[in-house]
Amino acid sequence: MTRKIGLWAGIGSLLRILRGKPKIPPSLADNLLLQTILNRRSIRSFTSRVIPDDIFAAVLEAGRLAPSTVNLQSWAFAVFDADLWQQTFGQSIPFHGNRAVIIMADTYRDRQVLDAFPHSPLVEYTIAVINASLAAMNMNIAAEALGVSSVMLSETGRSGLLDARYLKEKLGLPDGVIPLMTIVFGYARGPYPPMPPKLPEEQVFFKGQYRFPDLETMESWLSQMIAGYKASHLNSSFEKQLAIYQGKIGQAEADLHAMIFHRDHRP
Ligand SMILES: Cc1cc2nc3c(=O)[nH]c(=O)nc-3n(C[C@H](O)[C@H](O)[C@H](O)COP(=O)(O)O)c2cc1C
Repeated sequence: MTRKIGLWAGIGSLLRILRGKPKIPPSLADNLLLQTILNRRSIRSFTSRVIPDDIFAAVLEAGRLAPSTVNLQSWAFAVFDADLWQQTFGQSIPFHGNRAVIIMADTYRDRQVLDAFPHSPLVEYTIAVINASLAAMNMNIAAEALGVSSVMLSETGRSGLLDARYLKEKLGLPDGVIPLMTIVFGYARGPYPPMPPKLPEEQVFFKGQYRFPDLETMESWLSQMIAGYKASHLNSSFEKQLAIYQGKIGQAEADLHAMIFHRDHRP
């Protein structure tokens, strides 16, 4: 995909991004939880301030207590401080975050005592991904509520789904435990960036029958994505970032296929 947008169109797109704000009904404007959820941003620059242990423990607890299908809790969390990350991966936590958690869909643990989905690895995998992702979001919101910022990473720093095989080796994971993403935590350096272009209500909500996308709105959104990326990543572009994903996807697809469909019952 190569797509060029002109200077004026690019400026127009940036202005639209800057005008984007969460819509909070005035009657709920002072609801702190709503503010926390709606003002959250993915943060990619952190100070060196250390996250206190009790705060990080509360973030982890929010993950452990998340909802899950039939309470199966089909997730596992690899927990890191900066030293352990350095020791494990030979580099700093991405964006110099202070703590990190690798979120995994775990279809292995429960199976030791309960084979809930004996003939349905895809359903089992999908359920585990849903559950682990909800736990991840619980951690993310708990962190925000405690003044700690975060970013979820599936690619940056070999930290997620696209490097599942690498993480499997580094962390000694059995088949059926699939790394999905790393959440990097820390205190944000500077103010939060503007909200990236979110799709308008009418593109994502429907009542009754599925509403097919409006192409003009989708084109405008894509232009904003490209312009926003260019403005915030001086040495990269949306297209370069997509190309990085695309370059890794073939291997990742094969690795994930092996990890999901090879049902390993013992360590
Ligand atoms: C599962 C998942 C994986 C992501 N992977 C990356 C990543 O590898 N690198 C990155 O910079 N951001 C990553 N992000 C952050 C998204 O880019 C970000 O959520 C999106 O642009 C919307 O911005 P917002 O979170 O500030 O609303 C990821 C987010 C999610 C939910």
